[in-house]
Amino acid sequence: MDGQIVISATDLVKDYDGVRALAGVRFSIVRGECFGFLGPNGAGKTTAMRIVCCYMPPTSGSASVLGMDVTRDCSAIKARLGVMPQDDSLDVDLGVLENLIVYSRYFDIPRTTAQERTAALLEFVELSDKASVKVPKLSGGMRRRLLLARALINRPEVLVLDEPTTGLDPHSRRAVWDKLAALKAEGTTLLLTTHYMEEAERVCDRVAIMDSGRIVTTDTPKALMEAHGGNLESVYLKLTGRSLAD
Ligand SMILES: Nc1ncnc2c1ncn2[C@@H]1O[C@H](COP(=O)(O)OP(=O)(O)OP(=O)(O)O)[C@@H](O)[C@H]1O
Ligand SMILES: [Mg+2]
Repeated sequence: MDGQIVISATDLVKDYDGVRALAGVRFSIVRGECFGFLGPNGAGKTTAMRIVCCYMPPTSGSASVLGMDVTRDCSAIKARLGVMPQDDSLDVDLGVLENLIVYSRYFDIPRTTAQERTAALLEFVELSDKASVKVPKLSGGMRRRLLLARALINRPEVLVLDEPTTGLDPHSRRAVWDKLAALKAEGTTLLLTTHYMEEAERVCDRVAIMDSGRIVTTDTPKALMEAHGGNLESVYLKLTGRSLAD
């Protein structure tokens, strides 16, 4: 990590038809860092990510990715960004390999390069034996892994992952953690959301705990545990006011 800021958000506010999803969120992420959003359902995690990925503008405030403004420089940002959305947006009419090939066209990747990359990516996510299988015949966990492969097709410098391991079995979850660590070692900057405390602790350099459209605190998992006592789950429960019975 060289301390260079890759993602920055200042005073982000987002209203959806009168619902305030983000109420003034500020964070910055440096090159090579893995930064995680933790927070209960509806906290605003996906909303913040959608703004960073140029899917929609904020109501007010600003955000930049790689020094470019998310409301002005969308195509330049998207070219250097990989996105694994929370919702499954795979093409159900196509096979596994074809999903990657079709997606590569959005980035104008030459066909031969795309074929080389897709073969390597399917190996990376352990789906090589499913290359010709149609998406509806994949398990939920396989679909998540295909979405991860798709997010990597343009060799992104910044990877945004919304609940990358939700629905994965323990083996696949650990395999994805290893893959994220490998990408980080290559210098990729990672922004992710998770509901798994173990994932936050193992994968994230820093976490932002969100609740009701605000960031309650941001720090390393270790510093949060030292400051509040207990494990990350108890810190999370304390700061979000949830109880284990919720
Ligand atoms: N398209 C939309 N239209 C209207 N309201 C929305 C829309 N998307 C999200 N919201 C609302 O914005 C708030 C934040 O939602 P968001 O999806 O950002 O939460 P989240 O932290 O990602 O939650 P989860 O853990 O369930 O994925 C919620 O109150 C949600 O109902
Ligand atoms: Mg979400």
